[in-house]
Amino acid sequence: DAPGLVDRFGRVATDLRVSLTDRCNLRCTYCMPAEGLNWMPGEEMLTDAELLRLLGIAVTRLGVTNVRFTGGEPSLRKGIGGVIAATAAMDPRPTISMTTNGIGLARRAQEFAAAGLDRVNISLDTLDRDRFAALTRRDRLADVLAGLAAARDAGMTPVKVNAVLLRGVNDDEAVPLLRHCLDNGYHLRFIEQMPLDPQHGWDRANMVTAEEILGLLAEEFSLSESPRPRGGAPAERWLVDGGPAEVGVIASVTRPFCADCDRTRLTADGALRSCLFSQHETDLRGPLRAGASDEEVAELWRTAMWGKLAGHRINEAGFAQPIRPMSAIGG
Ligand code: GTP
Ligand code: 5AD
Ligand code: SF4
Repeated sequence: DAPGLVDRFGRVATDLRVSLTDRCNLRCTYCMPAEGLNWMPGEEMLTDAELLRLLGIAVTRLGVTNVRFTGGEPSLRKGIGGVIAATAAMDPRPTISMTTNGIGLARRAQEFAAAGLDRVNISLDTLDRDRFAALTRRDRLADVLAGLAAARDAGMTPVKVNAVLLRGVNDDEAVPLLRHCLDNGYHLRFIEQMPLDPQHGWDRANMVTAEEILGLLAEEFSLSESPRPRGGAPAERWLVDGGPAEVGVIASVTRPFCADCDRTRLTADGALRSCLFSQHETDLRGPLRAGASDEEVAELWRTAMWGKLAGHRINEAGFAQPIRPMSAIGG
C-alpha cells in the first residue's frame, strides 16, 4: 500500500479536520469582532465536488479514517447534507463528526444523522441566558440547548460539549456546566484558550488554566484519572466521582499534546495545514483546478505532512500567531 500521512517524527495523521465555511451565526467575543470578519469570497471556496474529491483522496489513498467537519459554523454550508452523505458512501467509510455551535441542530439533527453523521461536539460556554447573549452577541442559548438534546435523541453519541472559560466572564460556571452535562448525558470538555483570535487579545496571564479548572471542579467532585487510553485525543479525561461519567480538559497551552498529534487540516479555500499553528500552508485548490491527478494531489499532501513541525510554539519566545484566525482554520 502507498504510505499514509507520516511525518519525520513518526506521527501518522489519520484524522482530517475540514472547515466547510469561515462564516458563523454567532460572534463569540474571543473569536470574532461584532461586525464579523472579511469572509472568504465564494469563488475561492472549494465547490462540493472539489471538496469531495480531496476527501476521497484522503480516505482512499492517504489512510484518513476520521473526518471532522468544522467551520466557522459548518451547518451554514449550503450542501452540508450532501457532503456528509457522500463522505459516508466512501470506501472504507470514515468516522464522520462535526464541531458546531449547535444552532439549527434542533431542526436538523435527524437529517444529519440519517446522512451519516456519527457524532457532534457542541460549544457551550455558559448556561446563563444573559451571559450567553453577551458572550456570543446573540440571544440563542435556548437554540443551543435544544440542539444538544436533539443530537442526543438522534443517537449521535457521545455528545460532547466544548467550553472555554474566560476569567471574570464565566469562570464561575465550571461546576454548573459539569452538573448540567452529567444530568443530560453529555461529555464535557474544558478547553484552555489558545492565541488564535483575530483581535490578538489572548493573554497568557488571563488564561484559565487546566490546573485552575481541575481545582474548581475538585471543590464539588472527586476526580481520578480515567483508565481509558488517550490515543491522539487532545482531551485528558477524569472520572467524576468514581465514574463512569467523565470530564475532559484540553490543555493545549499548559500541557501540549503535540507529540501524539494525529491531525491534518483542510480550510474551506483548499489550503492544507499540517498543524493548527502552521505558518505555512500548501494550496491544493490551485493544482486541483489546474488538472492535477489524484496521485499528484496525494503526493503534495504527503510532502506537506512530512514537513510538520514537532509542535506548536505557544510557550516559546518569539511565538507568532498564524495569520488565519481560529474561525477560518476550523480549530
Ligand atoms: P474528538 O476528541 O474526536 O471528539 O474531537 P476534538 O476534541 O479533537 O475536536 P473539537 O473540534 O471538539 O476540538 C476541541 C478543541 O480542541 C478545540 O478548541 C480545538 O481547537 C482543539 N483542538 C483540536 N485539535 C487540536 C490540535 O491538533 N491541537 C490543538 N492545540 N488543539 C486542538
Ligand atoms: N482557544 C481555544 N478554543 C477556542 N474556541 C474558539 N476559539 C478558541 C481559542 N482561541 C473553541 C470554541 C469551540 C471549539 C471548537 O473551539 O469555543 O468550542
Ligand atoms: Fe462561531 Fe465558534 Fe467562533 Fe463562536 S467560537 S464565533 S461559535 S466559530
